[in-house]
Amino acid sequence: MQARQIAEGIYRIGANITNGDLFEGMWPIPEGVSLNSYVVWGEKVALIDLVRDWDEAPSRVREQLDSIHLPMHQIDYLILNHLEPDHTGWLRTFRDLCPQAEILTTPKGANLVKSFYKITDKVRSVKSGDTLELGKGKKLVFEEIPNVHWPETMVTYEASSGVLFSCDAFGSYGSVGAEVFDDELTPSQHEFYERESLRYYANIVASFSVFVERAVQKLSGLKVNVIAPSHGILWRKNPRIIVDRYVRYASYAEGPAESEVTLIWGSMYGNTEKLVQAALAGLKEEGVPVHIHQIPQTHVSYILASAWKSTGIVLGMPTYEYRMFPPMAHVLDDLGRKKVFGKKVFRFGSYGWSGGAAKELGEITAKYRWEFLDPVEFEGAPSDKEYEEVRKRCKELGALVKKSARYPLKS
Ligand SMILES: Cc1cc2nc3c(=O)[nH]c(=O)nc-3n(C[C@H](O)[C@H](O)[C@H](O)COP(=O)(O)O)c2cc1C
Repeated sequence: MQARQIAEGIYRIGANITNGDLFEGMWPIPEGVSLNSYVVWGEKVALIDLVRDWDEAPSRVREQLDSIHLPMHQIDYLILNHLEPDHTGWLRTFRDLCPQAEILTTPKGANLVKSFYKITDKVRSVKSGDTLELGKGKKLVFEEIPNVHWPETMVTYEASSGVLFSCDAFGSYGSVGAEVFDDELTPSQHEFYERESLRYYANIVASFSVFVERAVQKLSGLKVNVIAPSHGILWRKNPRIIVDRYVRYASYAEGPAESEVTLIWGSMYGNTEKLVQAALAGLKEEGVPVHIHQIPQTHVSYILASAWKSTGIVLGMPTYEYRMFPPMAHVLDDLGRKKVFGKKVFRFGSYGWSGGAAKELGEITAKYRWEFLDPVEFEGAPSDKEYEEVRKRCKELGALVKKSARYPLKS
């Protein structure tokens, strides 16, 4: 892969991770993920963000530095916007290869450079508003955006070109090919990155939504011509699209979101499963789009993405050993960890003799601010009566979702 020029003297250097590993050790990335670094070349040279020694990413970086005829000994500065190892794992080797390069990061970032990489020499702390002149008119401006994604995180802005190196903010999953800019992609590629930016947001960023809103507010004074994140595509034709998208995703944190419902169901012997169709029939009567996930077959990464953007949630699971079907307990725990709060929820499910799923559901979700419709619980196999009740309750939920959603149903 070749480095891609963003503006005079500014390049994107990228590596795709496609070896089947999980992101953060837990999120599937079947279509890969890109690790983006950037070169800003004035009289002095800055490299912004690094990679991890992962799926040969360092070799990709070196090849692309070669493609712009930049020898490593000519790199004067390494800017670390964020210390998560996907952007810094190669740091020790980099320091050996480029002992001359000074590392610039926030004070909290400098602590992490010390604790993770045992490097203290030639590390400079920068804070919001600090600048670095590179010569030939190139000037980097640093702005801290704490908790998007770690407490030490900052962004770097190149003032002459208006390129914002936004690190994890405005990123997405998905490998990036030769076409790295928004205006080079087909509509179906855009749909893909939109799906993957939502999933990335729900998996990685959602818990920090309030900080995303603060960061967008803080950066609103900058004239941004290009958004260059550390994962995913670059936005130069219409950077507003990805900013608006992130602002919209952040707004879902309240609970009311799109006029959509996420139906999560699991069943051992088919009794609960028989009413999935009843639930779908009721929701269809109200015309709300539904995202259906069978568990444990579906990875929670995908469930989080649709639950985060849905106003309503339907849960279908039976009782198991006096509690709920365990895969549902795991999913509900993850929804809580990622703060999928304030939703409208309906639950149905079968039991054999005692029940117990309902009690545990109440315990797990006690702090989720979920508003529950009356559940439909039934002994053994469902009858027509229960089919009808589930259909009616889901129709009610559909109507409630349409009324309380933050964003109206698209016609
Ligand atoms: C391993 C196992 C444990 C169960 N534990 C309970 C229980 O503690 N209380 C209860 O009322 N039913 C219990 N049941 C019965 C199921 O809840 C019942 O068979 C239900 O219809 C299963 O729904 P499904 O067909 O959707 O899987 C258990 C069933 C299995 C297989």
